Amino acid sequence: MSTSNTSRDSFHSRIGFVLAAAGSAIGLGNIWGFPTQAANNGGGAFLFVYLIVTLLLALPALYAEVYIGNQAQKNPVSALAEACGKRFNKLGKNAGIIGLVGAMMMLSFYSIVAGWMLAHALSALFELVGFSDLSAWLSTSSTLRNILFTPVFILLGAAIIHQGVHAGIERWSSRLMPLLLVMLIGLIVYILQQDGAAEGVALYLIPDFSQVTDPKLIISAMGQAFFSLSIGVGGMMVYGSYMKKGENIGKLVISIAALDTFIAFLAGLLIIPALFVAQHVGQDVFNNGHLIGEGQLIFQILPSLFSSMGTTGLIVAFSFFILLSIAALTSTISTTEVPVSYLVEDKNFNRNHATWIVSGAVLIASMTLVAFFDVLFGLVVQALTTILQPLMSLFYFIVIGWIWNRGNKITDIAVLNNNINLKLFGFYLRYICPILLLVVFVNVAF
Ligand code: PFF
Repeated sequence: MSTSNTSRDSFHSRIGFVLAAAGSAIGLGNIWGFPTQAANNGGGAFLFVYLIVTLLLALPALYAEVYIGNQAQKNPVSALAEACGKRFNKLGKNAGIIGLVGAMMMLSFYSIVAGWMLAHALSALFELVGFSDLSAWLSTSSTLRNILFTPVFILLGAAIIHQGVHAGIERWSSRLMPLLLVMLIGLIVYILQQDGAAEGVALYLIPDFSQVTDPKLIISAMGQAFFSLSIGVGGMMVYGSYMKKGENIGKLVISIAALDTFIAFLAGLLIIPALFVAQHVGQDVFNNGHLIGEGQLIFQILPSLFSSMGTTGLIVAFSFFILLSIAALTSTISTTEVPVSYLVEDKNFNRNHATWIVSGAVLIASMTLVAFFDVLFGLVVQALTTILQPLMSLFYFIVIGWIWNRGNKITDIAVLNNNINLKLFGFYLRYICPILLLVVFVNVAF
């Protein structure tokens, strides 16, 4: 273990940073989570509320996270300790460690689900070349499939992470993100030409305003926005720390959120019409206005729709699951970077060792989830998204607004493109954001 760490690896360009951070944000949450939630919560109404909570709360939280990392130029544990000053140093460090635990939780379940995506992509490929039995096995969930595909996915992430911030994360994000966009648009163009699609487009785009004040809808939209922007486990903080100081963080963060929201919007435009196409060809999709089941959407309804379309359908299925795998990969690399950067900077490990140690730990954690799937899986997802992520965001607001020079650190003059009164923005972060967040948190927890 060793090598000193005199010059810190970093992103080489603003666009590299934005693509990497958008890569972290754009994941299964956008392509699977968002459309499912939208389909179950009144389509356009959900989209509308989602946009509002993103703007009011998730975007400021993302700003706070990236800003803390950028100011400190250190890994999230040290960055939070530093931001908390001498008096609250321990508190900051402990919060950083809690975030790190959150990152491990996220990786443990996300890698399993990402493994399913890889298996389904291969399933389409094998069906295409005539290995139907193998294809059927790959598209059926089983413990053995989890045991095989979760490690494959973890290895893919490790292969990128060990190459470093610029040569690994930035380079691969810059390749994979444009590819993801092209694939998504290609799939949308194909699905919108099928019979039945128009009905889905209408449901998605025309909000039913009677639903927008439903507290359950608001809370779901809020959880979705925090998960989607990867807030609260330090992934965005560590990326912010790899960006040189003095950049217009407000503007960069807006680009990240805009890209994330745009992709979620596009995913809805693919999946909701696809559901109606499936219905058109005779599949049961909705029951009392609700989707039959979240899992069934991606793993049953869409695959059987694709296979009813013959060879083209199999190519579409393969592209769709590769799209999901890519989205998942760029999300896990940001999360893996949290513990890796901590081990490298604070514990003097070299990057290679740190990558393998963290990947090994993720493998053990995810195999534990596989072993006790029915009890643990939902619990870990729930604990992370409804407790840990909102609480960490609250902590960021308190650090930025109260602990950190009582909020005077918001000296990023360029914030939000100079268009906003800085004092007002400081006030908003100090008072309004924590209160809003607490209200929602109390509603979720009790
Ligand atoms: N934002 C990712 C998604 O929408 O799928 C999930 C995620 C990534 C959550 C990284 C948390 C995180 F730190």
